[in-house]
Amino acid sequence: MKPFPILKMGDPKLQTPAKVVADFSDPHLQKDIAELKFAMKTFGGVGISAPQIGINKRIILFGFEHSARYPTEKPVPFTILINPTYTTLTEQQEESWEGCLSVPGLRGKVPRFTRIEYSAFNLDGNEIKIIAEGFHARIIQHECDHLDGVLFPERIVDMKNFGFEELLWEKIYGVPYPVSS
Ligand code: NI
Repeated sequence: MKPFPILKMGDPKLQTPAKVVADFSDPHLQKDIAELKFAMKTFGGVGISAPQIGINKRIILFGFEHSARYPTEKPVPFTILINPTYTTLTEQQEESWEGCLSVPGLRGKVPRFTRIEYSAFNLDGNEIKIIAEGFHARIIQHECDHLDGVLFPERIVDMKNFGFEELLWEKIYGVPYPVSS
């Protein structure tokens, strides 16, 4: 089995708001989530949204123990969210570096709210509400943006804080850029 390819910035499907999932008994839902999991694992993402693999539905997944793409970030629990929304629990925003599987090789500094409460449905159609902070909250805001057709470069405040990973890596993470052999 090959993963679905990740759509890249410039693809109109990444600029289109995704559709609300209305039918939790739809057997395609399980399959879509399996494809998302597989793509996230294969490409090493800390999160992924359905539109990134060409599925026009409001579904996101995220979570990791250790991420080579974000080596200094603490683990985030693995979570599947359907029709996620969030409210901010603070006015405070923090600027930090983000990347995206749909924007390969680039990083940008993006402001995000530091504390949010999200609500969403799980695969059984039950509603969940959880408070998230820091990088965990950042991922959710990033992935929810995908569902609205927004990519992180649109959120960068100072475009001087946008560039290639190989040049920024050491400054961001304090370790040399991992060169794959
Ligand atoms: Ni992304």
